Amino acid sequence: MSKVTLNVNGITLEGNTGDSLLEQLESAGLQPEYQCRNGVCGACRCRLGSGKVSQKDSLAYTAKMRFLPAKAVHLPTWSWSLIIH
Ligand code: FES
Repeated sequence: MSKVTLNVNGITLEGNTGDSLLEQLESAGLQPEYQCRNGVCGACRCRLGSGKVSQKDSLAYTAKMRFLPAKAVHLPTWSWSLIIH
């Protein structure tokens, strides 16, 4: 599994390409907001500062440069940053 570097709210974390971004944020000790963990409610919505993520099918609305960490993984060839609330 590829290792990647995540920049979250200015904090650099180590991540991987397999787990959802929500799981990785929690593993890193952050406490991002969530409810359904399944792409339905939109509670985990974050802003992508740079880079690109792979957003899996979800029902909640996402605008440009927004995504749902519960249903997203990042791509190994991109470095990126995100802003969580
Ligand atoms: S926790 Fe429900 S869409 Fe993210």
